[in-house]
Amino acid sequence: MTRLRIALQKSGRLATESLKLLKKCGIRLNINEQRLIAHSDNLPIDILRVRDDDIPGLVMDGVVDIGIVGENVLIEEQYEREFINKAASYEKIRVLDFGQCRLSLAVTSEFDYQGIESLNKLRIATSYPNLLRKFMSSKGYEFEDCKLKGSVEVAPRAGLADAICDLVSTGATLEANGLIEKDVIFRSRACVIQSASNIDQTKQELINKIMSRINGVIQAKESKYIMLHAPKDNLQNIINLLPGAGNPTIMSLTNREDMVAVHAVSSEDIFWDTMEELKLLGASSILILPIEKMMG
Ligand code: PRP
Ligand code: ZN
Repeated sequence: MTRLRIALQKSGRLATESLKLLKKCGIRLNINEQRLIAHSDNLPIDILRVRDDDIPGLVMDGVVDIGIVGENVLIEEQYEREFINKAASYEKIRVLDFGQCRLSLAVTSEFDYQGIESLNKLRIATSYPNLLRKFMSSKGYEFEDCKLKGSVEVAPRAGLADAICDLVSTGATLEANGLIEKDVIFRSRACVIQSASNIDQTKQELINKIMSRINGVIQAKESKYIMLHAPKDNLQNIINLLPGAGNPTIMSLTNREDMVAVHAVSSEDIFWDTMEELKLLGASSILILPIEKMMG
């Protein structure tokens, strides 16, 4: 069978998390920093490590089968292709739990910002001209675009633009450049996309298997294993406090007629507040454990 090709960001916000996710799915990889391609030695999978902006195009053109990418570059590429009438089909198969960021308009502190209308007809530096164009025209405003692939945040001080439209995650970059975030135009997360072109059946089965493992990894991260001792007469109230713990296991305790042991998987983290409430209801020996892997 031909090998499944997965594109990941080589370096940047999504790079480490993307690799970590694949490793947790049992894809063994030997990454050589100098090399673009890495072959898995236990599954028929090749990893292509490229610039994030290139990933949507590689998937849309069927050069790779799947990609892990931010919705920001994905939607930008889709709009760009719609604009120039180029095929842009892909399938978003899963939203991931990392890479959260927002695309925002920002100005210097001297700029008298009264709302988006203050930017009408001004020059805005961005790496996302298509997302910005759609947003501004939906509000009925125009702008001059100044497309920069990097260092967008220095544009206002360098006199290249009146404002910027750039990705913000922690806000540190804006702050370091004396810029103030004004309006969010798009919110993004990492996601897995698949090529819409015909993928042969064995490859598709491998994709499905990887996706089911990804689901398991994310579900496990969000879930906790709970063990506690509960008084029989307050058992239901205690179980009701455990989020998403459908059918807990109840076991008897040696030499205790009034108490039982409860084991349950909770679909969410259990916070200190909940543990304190459990204790007030008579629970004791409360243990919250992380879950490594999960399969339904
Ligand atoms: C974005 C953006 C800023 C930085 C903001 O770059 O262009 O430089 O992240 O993050 P902060 O709010 O945490 O400071 P990105 O990671 O997308 O790099 P790239 O454009 O080179 O892919
Ligand atoms: Zn990028």
